[in-house]
Amino acid sequence: MTATLPSQKRRIFDSPIQKNKTTPQRKRIPKWVDVDDEDERIGQRKRQNGSLKHAPQAHSTPPRKKARTSGPPPPSPAKAGIQEHRKQLPIAKGKDALVQEIRANDVTVLLGETGSGKTTQIPQYLLEAGFADAGMIGITQPRKVAATELAARVSVEQGTPLGGLIGYGIRFDEKSSAATRVKYMTDGMLTRELLGDPLLSKYAVIIVDEAHERTLRTDLLLANLKRILRERNGKGEGKPQVNGKGKEREKDRNPLKVVIMSATLDAEKFSQFFSNAKIIYVKGRQHPVKIFHAAQGQTDYVDAALRTFFQVHVDQPPGDVLIFLPGQEDIESLEKSIQMFARQLPPGHDEVLTVPMYAALSGAQLHRTFAPTPRKTRKCILATNIAETSITIPGVRYVIDTGKVKEKRYLAGSTGGGFDTLLTRDINKSNAMQRAGRAGREGPGFCYRLYTEDAFLGMAASTEPEILRCSLAQAMLQLLCIGQDIQDLDLMDMPDVDAISSALRTLFLLGALDSQRELTDLGRAMAALPLEPTHARAVLASKDLNCTAEVLDIVSVLSANGALFLDATDKRAEIAEARRKFIHRSGDHLTILNTVRAYRAAGGADGENASGHVNGHGDGEEEKEEKVGRSARKEWARAHFINERTLREASSIRDQLRLSCTRAGIDWRASCGEQEDPVLLSLAHGLAQNTALIAPDGSYKQVMGQSVVKIHPSSSMADKKVPAIIYDELVYTNHIYARGVSSISKSYFNSLGAFNRREA
Ligand code: CDP
Ligand code: MG
Repeated sequence: MTATLPSQKRRIFDSPIQKNKTTPQRKRIPKWVDVDDEDERIGQRKRQNGSLKHAPQAHSTPPRKKARTSGPPPPSPAKAGIQEHRKQLPIAKGKDALVQEIRANDVTVLLGETGSGKTTQIPQYLLEAGFADAGMIGITQPRKVAATELAARVSVEQGTPLGGLIGYGIRFDEKSSAATRVKYMTDGMLTRELLGDPLLSKYAVIIVDEAHERTLRTDLLLANLKRILRERNGKGEGKPQVNGKGKEREKDRNPLKVVIMSATLDAEKFSQFFSNAKIIYVKGRQHPVKIFHAAQGQTDYVDAALRTFFQVHVDQPPGDVLIFLPGQEDIESLEKSIQMFARQLPPGHDEVLTVPMYAALSGAQLHRTFAPTPRKTRKCILATNIAETSITIPGVRYVIDTGKVKEKRYLAGSTGGGFDTLLTRDINKSNAMQRAGRAGREGPGFCYRLYTEDAFLGMAASTEPEILRCSLAQAMLQLLCIGQDIQDLDLMDMPDVDAISSALRTLFLLGALDSQRELTDLGRAMAALPLEPTHARAVLASKDLNCTAEVLDIVSVLSANGALFLDATDKRAEIAEARRKFIHRSGDHLTILNTVRAYRAAGGADGENASGHVNGHGDGEEEKEEKVGRSARKEWARAHFINERTLREASSIRDQLRLSCTRAGIDWRASCGEQEDPVLLSLAHGLAQNTALIAPDGSYKQVMGQSVVKIHPSSSMADKKVPAIIYDELVYTNHIYARGVSSISKSYFNSLGAFNRREA
């Protein structure tokens, strides 16, 4: 970071509030153009156009009239008591009307501003109104962190322990019990439940939250809900079904209620999808947000965000700052720069407290975001788009929006061998408006956009549904297991034929489908494991090759969210030295295995359970040992620049996978000891499509597909030339890089495709 300290003395900004023509024309300096609060304007225009119908009585007064422009912020739960807080949420006024509407309709589309109380209150209203007598209330979230965070919050509001009345379920982590009536879960978890229960008969109500994000899972869920409504409620899905065939039948029916919740103004499409379901609008408690656009486009958005943050910090009254960035790397780099510059500020300025926020962080770390800001301190939250809707952060008055987001996109190759990419790209209008809205939750706020007004106006209206841009292999495998063909589903948007054939090809190569496109036993077994098809295939192969213990160790790390190896540019040599001993010559997968083993050994005992929850019932002595082991492992990870959080997460994933293996009749204890071939061969079964051969010029050429790939610099194989490689994924930056690379012998890899198919 080369930025000049944007302090008072050496300031290079003028106040963002005033347009000042004399600002020195340096390329990287954002200049601000001040515009109207277009969020409000757009919202207003849409409402006047009548796109929102059937607002219940409680909300029919024009919401704008009530919008406060000043006055005290709403009381915090601590001060007013949690029940009082609940009553004061904007949604509370409409409680009875809402419950009535949901009772009267099979499907209800609920549209409301972030923070109005949709996610936390609606399930409780329905619970209190007796909806859970007939079955559970399930509420889906696109993100894990939202599901766990919200369940925790709501169980506090209900005054019950988490996992009791209120529970959650996310992949590899479940907190619910027989007593659970309201369950927060990821949309992926609920689609997975379709495997065992195609009518979701446990549930009386399904609430699909953040539906506007249109994740692949949400779309599949919506299509299935439409089918389930037909089967459970009779043929109409928009209106209540009157069953004329006598009381007997009426009693047997176990109808489903569906509530679709969305934070943006695209409710119409959901309503149409569900035969013109009723749309209800809930006004939030939104204060005006003043929006500033940069006068010029910014080439370095991290640097621009840094400068803007200090401009706010130095010039503006107290209030926390929320910065939206695309991903973890940018967050970490900006956090470091902000901390460094904050230390250099002249005395008299408030302290700066930085809090990172991205999906890979643990629940406890994310909790810091919600803690009250200490006195004489400005909190600066550096977040990805996870802070855009699902989660409420109190205290934020300033938003800095880089205008960037990371988006997953599948690049289907013309001859197969397509790959998922995670690319940073521009946000859309709906993201921009949500982000700005975060500044006006508790009082009037300010939003600094690091892009021009023209750029804003040129943005797409909303996100392209994930189903149109992602790999479909895993989803199609799951669908096939419940006897569904994606092409026959009634989806809101139909995926491209190329994407479908690419997924079919992957499943065929993995042996999940036979040449008639029929699901094989192997395919069914793959779907039963909560893993991507490639990893599931590797685990199944390990059964025959007697190395499930090793493959689970590796796959759990690959399934964890965070990175295993920490990086610090200023310590490259030191890091390389510390890690030298676990680098395996055949590449990254066995390096991971070595690392997991070393970590376990660092804890003393056999470390069968490195996550700290001991399986047996340890006496005091054992507990003490476990404690010692924990701190030894921590110290070990620190000394080797290894992310212990990832290892702990992997360890709990592995516990879950062991349970799945036991259920599937796979002996997870089976180990091949120090042999490496069985492990690599198992992995290669899953990565059959991710293979490349060396070309005469030293680059690698995909076997299935035509791309020339380089080995990613982060790989332990980076400078090596071997005849053949397998890799976990391709990432596309200035070049196509293979990440997670191992060398494999050409002889066994030649027969892989045939091997997978023969077993099928
Ligand atoms: O779903 P929606 O955005 O409409 O709101 P919500 O998530 O139900 O949150 C409603 C309100 O509850 C927020 O505005 C916060 O005041 C409060 N809340 C909180 O204080 N802590 C949480 N973890 C979640 C919500
Ligand atoms: Mg919500």
